[in-house]
Amino acid sequence: MKTLKQTVWEAREKKVAVGHFNISNLEALWGIFRAAQSLNVPVIIGVSEGERDFVGVKLVANAVKSIREEFDYPIYLNADHTYSFDRVKEAIDAGFDSVIVDGAKLSFEENVKLTKQCVDYARASGREVLVEAELGYIGQSSKVLDEIPEGVMLDESSLTDPVKAKEFVELTGVDMLAPAVGNFHGMLRGGVDPKLNIERVKQVAESTGIPLVLHGGSGNSEDDFKQAIANGINIVHINTEIRLAFRDAVKKALQENPDEVAPYKFLKPGMLAVQEVVEKKLRFFNNL
Ligand code: G3H
Ligand code: ZN
Repeated sequence: MKTLKQTVWEAREKKVAVGHFNISNLEALWGIFRAAQSLNVPVIIGVSEGERDFVGVKLVANAVKSIREEFDYPIYLNADHTYSFDRVKEAIDAGFDSVIVDGAKLSFEENVKLTKQCVDYARASGREVLVEAELGYIGQSSKVLDEIPEGVMLDESSLTDPVKAKEFVELTGVDMLAPAVGNFHGMLRGGVDPKLNIERVKQVAESTGIPLVLHGGSGNSEDDFKQAIANGINIVHINTEIRLAFRDAVKKALQENPDEVAPYKFLKPGMLAVQEVVEKKLRFFNNL
C-alpha cells in the first residue's frame, strides 16, 4: 500500500490531483469510497475540527482504516483546518495520515511558529504524517454564499506571495501548502465562483517546490481545475457541493416517503448523491 506522500508525489509526476472530500457521517464516507473504487483512484477523506467532533476523532480514524484494510484500498484521512497544536496532536495520535495547520488568520511569524511546532511533532511521531499549512486567507465555512466571505480579497496583492511562500516553506519544513489563489471556502449561490489566478498557482508552485493544495473547490469550473492541476495543484478539496447533494437527496427522499422511518432507507439517496458528485470530480482531477 502506497503512503499518502507517495500518492501525492505520484500525482505530481502524472500532473493529476488527488481528490479530498469532507465527511460528517458514514453515508458520505461510503459514497466517496464507492466513487473512488469505481474509478480505481486514490482518495482522501477530510474532517474539519467541527466534522471530527461530530463523527468522533477515533471513530473516523478507525472507520477509514477499516475500509483501507478490508478493501486493500488507498484511502487516506486528513485532519482538515486545524487551529491549535493540541488538536493537531490529537489527530496525529489517533492515526491520521495528514494534518492541516490553519494559521491563515495569524501573523506570518505566528503562523510559522505554530506550523513548525506541528511539523516537529509529526516528524517525531514515528509514522509518516504529512503536514500542510495555509498561507493567505480564504474564508472558513463550506456553505452556500450570497457573497464572497468577509476578509477574503481576490486582488493580486492579497493572494499568496510566492517569495513569502518560499520563505514559509523553508522555515517550517511543511510537506504541502494551501495558497490563496483566488479560491475561497463555500460556493456562491448559483454555483459559479470567480476564476482562479492560474499564474499565481504557477509562481507559488515554482517558488516552493512542494505540492500545492487547492481548497474551496466547490463552484470552480472544470477549466479552472484543469489549468490549476497542470500548474502545480496536486490535491483538490471539495465540501460544499457534496453537502448540498446529500442534503437535497435526503430532503427529497423524506418528502416522497414521509412515513419512512428506517435511516438506512431514507439516507441511502444521500449516499448515492454524494457518490455521483464525487465520481464526476474524480474523473476530472484524474484526467479520466
Ligand atoms: O477544506 C475544505 C475545502 O476547502 C472545501 O471547500 O466547501 O468550497 O468545496 P468547499
Ligand atoms: Zn479548506
